[in-house]
Amino acid sequence: MKRLSVGIVGFGFMGRTHYGVWKKRRDARVTCVCDSNLAQITAKARGNLDVADNSALPPNVRVYADFDRMLAEERLDVADITLPTPLHAPMAIKALERGINVLCEKPMAVDAKTCDRMLAAERKSNGRLMIAQCVRYWPEYRVLREYISSGRYGKVIAADFTRFAPAPAWNRGGRSWFLDETQSGGVALDMHLHDTDEIHYLFGMPKSVTSTAHQHMDGWTDFISTTYGYPDKVVTSSSSWAMSPSFVWESGFRVVCEKAVVVANSHAPSPLVVYPEKGKPFSPKLPKASGYETEIGMFAAWIAGDANAEPVLAQSARDSVAIVDAERRSAKTGRSVRLGKSGHRMAAST
Ligand SMILES: NC(=O)c1ccc[n+]([C@@H]2O[C@H](COP(=O)([O-])OP(=O)(O)OC[C@H]3O[C@@H](n4cnc5c(N)ncnc54)[C@H](O)[C@@H]3O)[C@@H](O)[C@H]2O)c1
Repeated sequence: MKRLSVGIVGFGFMGRTHYGVWKKRRDARVTCVCDSNLAQITAKARGNLDVADNSALPPNVRVYADFDRMLAEERLDVADITLPTPLHAPMAIKALERGINVLCEKPMAVDAKTCDRMLAAERKSNGRLMIAQCVRYWPEYRVLREYISSGRYGKVIAADFTRFAPAPAWNRGGRSWFLDETQSGGVALDMHLHDTDEIHYLFGMPKSVTSTAHQHMDGWTDFISTTYGYPDKVVTSSSSWAMSPSFVWESGFRVVCEKAVVVANSHAPSPLVVYPEKGKPFSPKLPKASGYETEIGMFAAWIAGDANAEPVLAQSARDSVAIVDAERRSAKTGRSVRLGKSGHRMAAST
């Protein structure tokens, strides 16, 4: 079996997290990594979860400081883009132009308009583009999706998703790029997008969004709360980067169905609990693989042509960014924003 030749671009927190997953796979080999700051190759990466692989790179992994040079010198099957958000579009487009498959970290790009340029590049390319919306692959969220799509507990009446963390101030060498609203999109685009994407994935495009947000004194959004307009259910979500530094990351959901309530909470002893209409609460068995392992496995299966693979298609990830664009606009104007149908030309209007 020919192993996929994988190049990781950006060797910070997510680069090292993806590296740890790729290196366990038998169908792939990380042949090279690229980081414009070569000190990152040996630095220990830190992030909001303890998932980065901080082991030393083996000597047969080639190291580049420049992506163009890496593209010129390597024969890659996969470019795994784990760069700061503004670099996703230009670097993904360069790889797609060479016919290379791209796994690109979320958010797909800084706004939906930029995502459209990536979609256009994918259409012209022999390579495929998947966006790493990892929450779709998180064990608790996969079980929830199975309950909802099978109708096991009846229809959803209401759903609330939350994600709370201290501000991401862990980057080396001073001020983090995350705390520049123009680069990361603040908590709305960087972290809250995970739940917006999950809501979009579970329930389809909302008809509207109504958001309120808080701005940190330095100009970046540090709290957002949104109500998503669906005709038959109440759907809400809040995300915070305003928690004090001693607060431990907390994420989860409460989904009220006709015949059960399904609750996930990362702080709880059992991460997922079902409270059925009849009988006692129970904790369902969760898939063993981590969200990142399932995500990268699905990407590898998809580019290998496996019809059972469940990739995050770029169009779907683009539409999730468009919903967040509308949420940011709603928070800014204080008005609800209506959304068009899911699709390439979807536009938001107040
Ligand atoms: N899916 C998730 O759970 C998750 C979690 C955290 C971050 N992210 C996303 O992953 C992306 C990266 O975040 P991170 O936390 O790894 O950031 P990071 O700052 O830790 O790492 C980014 C790396 O890219 C390098 N870099 C910057 N410019 C470069 C260039 N021109 N060429 C090559 N390398 C360059 C930096 O030196 C750094 O090492 C962001 O878009 C972020 O939103 C996703």
